[in-house]
Amino acid sequence: MTWVEANGFERDGLPQFRRTRRMRRTPALRGLVRETTLQPDDFIQPLFVTHGSGVRHEIESMPGQYQLSVDALPQEVADLIGAGINAVLLFGIPEEKDRAASGALDPDGVIQSAMRTIKREMPEMLIIGDVCACEYTDHGHCGILDGCEVDNDQTVALLARIAVSQADAGADIVAPSDMMDGRVLAIRNALDAAGHGNLPIMSYAAKYASAFYGPFREAAASMPAFGDRRSHQMDPANAREAITEIAIDLDEGADIVIVKPALAYLDVIRMARDTFDAPLVAYNVSGEYAMIKAAAQLGWIDERKVALETLTAIKRAGAGRIITYHAKEAARWLREGEASTRRPLDVLSEWDA
Ligand code: PBG
Repeated sequence: MTWVEANGFERDGLPQFRRTRRMRRTPALRGLVRETTLQPDDFIQPLFVTHGSGVRHEIESMPGQYQLSVDALPQEVADLIGAGINAVLLFGIPEEKDRAASGALDPDGVIQSAMRTIKREMPEMLIIGDVCACEYTDHGHCGILDGCEVDNDQTVALLARIAVSQADAGADIVAPSDMMDGRVLAIRNALDAAGHGNLPIMSYAAKYASAFYGPFREAAASMPAFGDRRSHQMDPANAREAITEIAIDLDEGADIVIVKPALAYLDVIRMARDTFDAPLVAYNVSGEYAMIKAAAQLGWIDERKVALETLTAIKRAGAGRIITYHAKEAARWLREGEASTRRPLDVLSEWDA
């Protein structure tokens, strides 16, 4: 017997099944029941700041993303503000790298100059400083090496000094991305001792040892000269461990936590959202961006639709904000959607058009 024979479509003249398609018929109906919406200030744009002047060098594996010298920043930041983006995450590429990552501590270093410049020219832009040694070490590892291993406690001491140096230069938030143990506590104590008690910490709490960081390492010239980062970044096979990592960072004083990468870790984002009340950010990383760009360049996918669908999924999974290289473009697409539908940021109905 079929379902219809068994149940019938009607009993007493009333339909016996739910017509869920009712709420999908028109853009207005879909808009009315939409659970997740994107807006430009959901996005945080990463920027790669390099030494020299007049530099605007496109990163090959990340079309549309640039290594920018400090003098090129005001224009870029103005464009972002115009697009509705309120926060940038800064990475520095120093002229010289050494074993001790001393460029990361230089008060006139590339990241410090970048922060001072943005603070002076566009004080409304929120500046988040990435705190890690890998862009500043000649070996490309995230800290001080002891033999072939990254030494945890020496590295933590270095990170705390980097965080204070960025705070002194005008960072609004510091974001340690190294995955050393105890670094949030050390950074909190160092910031407090230096008079930066009000400066929040956004920790990369659950950061996986991911191959999706490939293009970033070209962008930031931070490929490890040997080995990899699996001794400190998390094993992609583990989800419960992320909960432990986030709990530790919140205990140590993190104000905001990051799950990274995003797309292959939506379950982790959901678990984190359901477990903790803290503000949660997801990092839509370089490889995720590069895949969309590459497939779009080949004409195999529609970049706008795939990027917005991806960002929607990351937010639906529970991320409050998203660090994404698509920030500026996505903000523009949302605006265009708004203009064409005359309803605020109703992008999803745009997708059907
Ligand atoms: C630095 C850092 C990395 C990323 C952000 N901060 C690279 C890494 O851990 O190897 C990756 C970001 C991206 O892929 O977009 N430690």
